[in-house]
This record gives sequence, structure tokens and C-alpha cells, in this order.
Amino acid sequence: MTDEQEILSLREQLHRHNYLYYVLAQPEVSDQEFDQLMHRLEALEARHPELADPNSPTQRVGSDLTTDFTQVTHRYPMLSLANTYNEGDVRAFYERVRSGLEGEPFDIVAEMKYDGLGISLTYVDGRLACAVTRGDGAKGDDVTANVRTIRSIPLQLAAGGGYPREFEIRGEILMPWQSFERLNAEREANGEPLFANPRNAAAGTLKQQKSAIVAQRGLDAYLYYLPGEWPEGSTHFGLLEQARQWGFKVSQGMRLCHSVDDILSFIHEQDVARRQLPVATDGIVLKVNSLRQQRHLGYTAKSPRWAIAYKFPAERACTPLLSVSYQVGRTGAITPVANMEPVPLAGTWVKRASLHNADVIAQLGLHEGDHVYVEKGGEIIPKVVGVDLSQRKAQARPVQFISHCPECGTPLVRIDGEAAHYCPNDGLCPPQVKGRIEHFISRKAMDIGSLGPETVDDYYRRGLIRDAADLYQLRVEQLSGALGTREKSARNVIDGIERSKQVPWARVVYALGIRFVGETTAKLLARHFPSIDTLSGATAEQLAEVDGVGEVIAQSVVHYFNEPANQLFVRRLREAGVRMEADESQSPMQGNTPLAGKSIVISGVFARHSRDEYKEMIERFGGKNVGSISAKTTFVLAGENMGPAKLEKARKLGVPLVSEEAFLAMVDEAAPPLEERSSQARQSDLFQTLFP
Ligand code: IVH
Repeated sequence: MTDEQEILSLREQLHRHNYLYYVLAQPEVSDQEFDQLMHRLEALEARHPELADPNSPTQRVGSDLTTDFTQVTHRYPMLSLANTYNEGDVRAFYERVRSGLEGEPFDIVAEMKYDGLGISLTYVDGRLACAVTRGDGAKGDDVTANVRTIRSIPLQLAAGGGYPREFEIRGEILMPWQSFERLNAEREANGEPLFANPRNAAAGTLKQQKSAIVAQRGLDAYLYYLPGEWPEGSTHFGLLEQARQWGFKVSQGMRLCHSVDDILSFIHEQDVARRQLPVATDGIVLKVNSLRQQRHLGYTAKSPRWAIAYKFPAERACTPLLSVSYQVGRTGAITPVANMEPVPLAGTWVKRASLHNADVIAQLGLHEGDHVYVEKGGEIIPKVVGVDLSQRKAQARPVQFISHCPECGTPLVRIDGEAAHYCPNDGLCPPQVKGRIEHFISRKAMDIGSLGPETVDDYYRRGLIRDAADLYQLRVEQLSGALGTREKSARNVIDGIERSKQVPWARVVYALGIRFVGETTAKLLARHFPSIDTLSGATAEQLAEVDGVGEVIAQSVVHYFNEPANQLFVRRLREAGVRMEADESQSPMQGNTPLAGKSIVISGVFARHSRDEYKEMIERFGGKNVGSISAKTTFVLAGENMGPAKLEKARKLGVPLVSEEAFLAMVDEAAPPLEERSSQARQSDLFQTLFP
């Protein structure tokens, strides 16, 4: 056997084992045997780069290169379904179909409604060619590289399967409960915000620019629809059964229903059965089976007349309210929380639920000791949705919102037009103080990775820190011993704090924690006001002149620097040696602006600098970075693997492509000698600079 033959044979075997494992859950080989085949294939592919194939099973691990998503127009628009919530609506749909078909007999296919993200897959010659998100229904993002990493999506269909040369199949990308819980546990450990539900987690994952990250997140996919022209007499059920034969993971519990009673009993069965499913579902989809009848019924402006979604009612439980407690956030906002007698609901024991604010408590008319209804909708966090009045005791008193901060005792205030109550004692109220310090050390701010919420809490309790400026006064001797910290880790903490003095000016602006000044606004401000003196001295009018900075932000910045406590804080940071001005080499060039007036699109992946660095460079040298190619674009800064749609557009409009190297030459950044650079960078030297 030649290497080429062996590569092809290994790929076929691995595709099959993948299918047996991830689609059928019936593996024929052990994980070890699977790994052996994979390693052999990896070795052979490394020896034969000319035989590379993006659909090879080795590519499931994804790539570390960043991609940006090109937009693709859907061949058939991706419509949504009309929703119904009760039996009456289901019967009405059935009757509408009956009268639309003028008495002709018909069948309805009932299937699970998966709660993830719609995806459209195109196969050409049995190979996955393209995967596009729903987007706005007309156009979506090309996420092929990410979708290739989803093990249950076939990259190569078995030969001779009888599928058309080219076809589209649609379905849902989901994050199984198990992967979701693992991901959130990891995020919690890293102090990152949690995803509210598996759908959001799947969406966040699919938008990742690095497919290697997607590959680790354990996504899954179910397919449920094949748009397009199919032979006369085709049925939806028949097509899905065929797709199953071709190797796709198709909804397990589909049923062909011949009457409305069939449908309703399917709905009742599935509302119970779905609790055992590995993925989230939120209803049942009903579709007319015959494609001819589907065509006859047609579409409204938004959705097909031949299909409808029945949404399951959110699961609800009733349990006694034990108490209402109040949490103080880092901005001082007070959140009331209902503490309840634990009750099982949709797979977990629920004992706490957010009551959001005083208005919500008033709307519920909540009384002490009430029995409350809790629901878990699409969200993981349960909600109190009502009160069982029949169980209320005659002498029960209404729940009174607190008047003083539970942490520091300060009287609360409520700002006109805002729902939340605030504790105004921002200088001394412990959760606010600690919250600001946590913000200050966070990754996008001063990035002091050697500290975390627990250490901040510990230092605060021991009186070592009262604000973030105190961090710079800490000494190794003070820290060792705390929380079992040994000298080595204490030194590590101090080193991390020391290093943070060098973070760029924009991040310092963000770290100050000025209200409404997020990461992006901080960058804008830092660019226009390149030092603490220019920024703190700016008037509201000067601030509002900056593109992207509005009245509210401008006022907030002025207010911040007017506060004596903040002035002192800033002075102490400066005295500690924190960078309080832009690095010369990072500020916009005076005079030397080789890109002045140029409008530049960045596309593809780069070897020498990150995309963000290129953005920053373009601006520093007087150019403007724009998102999409138009006749006004001066040139495209083109990395490798630029999307075909963008390439085509540039060619059509005659917009030149400039390689990474040519761009750097333009801005006169001397390239380091060749041997210091990666092979990728060398390859990109081969990339032509194309001026028409
Ligand atoms: S069929 C024209 N079937 O629900 C019909 N959709 O609100 C195309 N969905 O955008 C959709 N499970 O993302 C269909 N079994 C299923 C589904 C399903 C989930 C999603 C899909 C669609 C949305 C409709």
C-alpha cells in the first residue's frame, strides 16, 4: 500500500469510528485503538503535506489561528417557526392545514424542538463544504472551521450513499448539559462570568475565533430539515430517515402522526421523556410530511404555514418562602434574593431565586411566609413567578424592602428612573470596596493574575488593603502565612503586582473603574488623552468630542476626577509607579502618518502580529480600519486563508491586497531576520503583494 492509499484508508476508518461513537453511541473499537489509528494518520499527513485535507479526521482538533467570519447568503432563507403554547393552538394549526389542503389526507411529523443555534450545512460530493449560522435569516456567518470540530457532524459521507452531488441540511448546534456544566465549573474557577444556559454557551463557543477552543467545548448537533428540490413524492420523514442512513445525527424521537390525538399524546410523552435527554429542548416541532403538500401550503412573510412549534410550559414548583436576603454588588446595587424551602425543579434542587428589585417584590405582592411559584424557563437561574394566595396566613405582613445597607448600615438611595436601590457608601462598604479591587486586578485591567477574589477578601479582612493603591505597598513578609501562603507564592503575588505597573495606559484608564467606562471606551479615552493630566483635566465638552463618548460618559469621567478621594487614589497610584501616560511608540504619530486618509480592511490570519495589533498600528499611522470591503477601501491587509467571499469582492471592486510583510514595510517596521520567525511567517513572504 502506498502512503496515499493508507492515508485514504485511515481517513475512511476514522470517519466510520467517529460516526459509530458520536452519532450511534455504539463504538466498535476501544479509545486506545482509535487513538492509534489517529496517530498513524497524523504521522503520515505530516510526512505528506501535499495530501492535506480540511475534512480529514485529524482536523477535528481545530486550529489556534484566528479566523474572522465571512458572511454568506443563504440559498434558502432560514425562517423561524410560529410558536404555540397550548393544545387549543395545536388543534387550530391542524385545522388550518386541513382546510388549506382542501380535505386531502395528510400526515404530520412531530419531533423535538432543540434549544440551540440553527445551522445550515452544505455537502458537495459527500464532503462538508460549508457551515453557516442562521444570522438574520437571509445571511449568516461562515463558521465551517468551527463546525468541523463537532464530532457528530460528518465531514465525509460514506461513498455510494445515494445522496445528491450537492445538498443542504439544517439542524441545531447544542452544548450538552454535561459539557455545559463542565464549562461553567471551569469558568467559575477562573473567575469568569458564567453562561446562563447551554444555548448561550453554544453561541459563545461557535463565535470563537479559534477553532481549537471550539474543539474542546464538546458541542453536539442534531439535524432536522433538508431544504431544496427533492424528487416528486418525497416526504420530510423519508428524507430524515435517509439522512440518518447517510450518517447524520437525526432527532431520535420523531413520530409520524395521523391525527391530532397522535400529536397530543406525543407531546405529553415527550414533555416527560425530554428530562432524560443529554441536551436542552424547549418544545415540539410539527411539520406537514408531504413536500408537495408543504409547497401547496407555502409561507407567510416570516414562517412556513406547514409547520409550527409547540413550546413546553416552563417547569414550575410551589414552595414556602423562608426569608428575603439582600446582596450588595460591586456598584452598590442591592439585589433581593428569595430563600425558599428546597424544592426539586427540572433536575436540580432550587432554594434561592433572584427577586431583582423592589418593583418585582411589589408586583408579586410578596408577603412573609408566602408559598411561591418558582419557574425555570430557558434560563438556569430560577424565577419567582407568583404567589399561592390560598396558602397565605391572615396576619401575614408584606415583605418590606430594606432601608439600610445590610453590609455597612448606610441608608439606601434610589436614583430617579432606576429600578435598583443603591448603597451610596462606595468608599467604605466592603463588597463595593472589594469589588473595585477585583475589577482593578482583572485580566483586562491591570492583569494581576497572581491575585483573585479569595486573596483580595483575605487581605481586606486582615486590614492589609483598603483600596487598589494599597496593593503597591504590600511586602512579602506581610503576605506569607496568610491563607497558608508560603514565601514563594507571596513573592509571586508581589512580582505580579510589580509587573502591573507596566500595563498600557488604556488598561489603567479601564482599571480605575469609572462608571460607564468599559474596555472600549477606556481605549478611546486613552488615545485622545494620552496622560492622566490631560484626562483628569478635560472638560465634559472636550470629552464628548471624542467619537464614541457621549454626554453620560463625559459627565461620569468629570465627576470621577472631581471626587477628592479619587484624586488621592490616582496620586497614590502614580507615586507607586503605575504607568499614567501613553507609551510614545503607542501614541498616534505626529507628522509621520504613512496611512493618512487610507481606509483599510483586515482579513485572514497573520503570522507577525495579532489582528488587534494591526488595528492599532493602522490607527497609529493615521489610517482607518473598516469592517467590510467597499469601493472606498484603499486596500485589504490580507493574511493567509482570507475568505473566498472577501477575495471575490476585492477582486470585483479592484481593491488591492497587501501582504503582511508589504504592510510592515509600508509603515517601516523593520522585519526581524528570517531565522527568528516562524515557518508561517516565511510562508507569508511568498504571498504576493498585488497592486492592479
Ligand atoms: S424546522 C422552515 N425543526 O427552532 C422550518 N426547527 O423557531 C425550519 N429548531 O430556527 C426549522 N428544533 O433553529 C425545525 N426539530 C426542529 C427544530 C427547529 C429546533 C429551531 C430552529 C429554528 C427555530 C424555529
